[in-house]
Amino acid sequence: MTDHLVLTRPDDWHLHLRDGPVLSTVVPHSARQFARAIVMPNLVPPVTTTAAALAYRERILDAVPGGLSFDPLMTLYLTDNMAVEQIARASDSGHVLACKLYPAGATTNSDRGVTDIRNIHGVLEAMERHDMVLCVHGEVTDPRVDVFDREAVFIERVLQPLVRDFPALRVVFEHITTADAVHFVRDAPNTVAATITPQHLMYNRNALFQGGLRPHHYCLPVLKRERHRAALLEAATGGSGRYFLGTDSAPHARNAKEAECGCAGCYSGYHALELYVAAFEAAGALHALEGFASHFGADFYGLSRNTDTVELERASHVVPAAFPFDGDELVPLAAGDTLTWRLVT
Ligand code: DOR
Ligand code: ZN
Repeated sequence: MTDHLVLTRPDDWHLHLRDGPVLSTVVPHSARQFARAIVMPNLVPPVTTTAAALAYRERILDAVPGGLSFDPLMTLYLTDNMAVEQIARASDSGHVLACKLYPAGATTNSDRGVTDIRNIHGVLEAMERHDMVLCVHGEVTDPRVDVFDREAVFIERVLQPLVRDFPALRVVFEHITTADAVHFVRDAPNTVAATITPQHLMYNRNALFQGGLRPHHYCLPVLKRERHRAALLEAATGGSGRYFLGTDSAPHARNAKEAECGCAGCYSGYHALELYVAAFEAAGALHALEGFASHFGADFYGLSRNTDTVELERASHVVPAAFPFDGDELVPLAAGDTLTWRLVT
């Protein structure tokens, strides 16, 4: 049995770091594992300009512990009235790699997102010209659509037409949760890829209700049936360059999660790599981890692969119950559970 793993240092292609004092909690966790991360722009107010993205990037860099190198790759939040000129400016900055499409109302801080994709056709054309990546939260917000079907319906209503209308636009279908999404990406042109989170590889929707309501397993898109988890695991471990690591680590204070109307988001930033290793090992696919975690995302984004490495060893340890979080607490995914692999610092 393998007891040591050495991997090309991975990158996180979908990460929420928030802003302000909590950066000092979450940035060191990610920087310990990952060389780079695509940083989500759903702050309050959202990051809609290159100037705001560059200033946010500096605040993140200020929270990187000495001795670690971490490159935050920034994104802009698309709104109905984003000016087309923003795209050239973002592309010229060298630090803004992508724009994020949040359907308005789909998830945390998405109120200012896009109400109708037709409102951003000009922006998408500019992104195509500047070869900028579009990151997509793929769920419809139509209240008539069952919450468990929102991703599948989004594929039909939005993604298929989008890929047809913008054939050169690179699209990352973020945090996919269904077999439908796996098949869509598999059959789409090679301009389309997807990220997969640790929680969607580890759990099915039973985890939301195990012995009671489990707010720390609630994220969006919500966990799905076992057959969907199995399809995601097969995609992640199958060696295709179209699926790669994106944690969607989304920190919220304990009070905001354990509430009458709790926030969506799982905090995996502390131990993401160890969680992915456990999921891949359980599937008998440790050999496929390095491509998924360290190669395919960089290749899709057109960046060089990292040249340094990280090391993991087989060693039991318990996931901490919580971290300090700006006067409150941050509960990590799988808090209190025992993990079998540990990142060697
Ligand atoms: O669970 C989620 N949390 N899904 C998202 O799309 C957003 C994220 C957040 O920002 O909290
Ligand atoms: Zn996210």
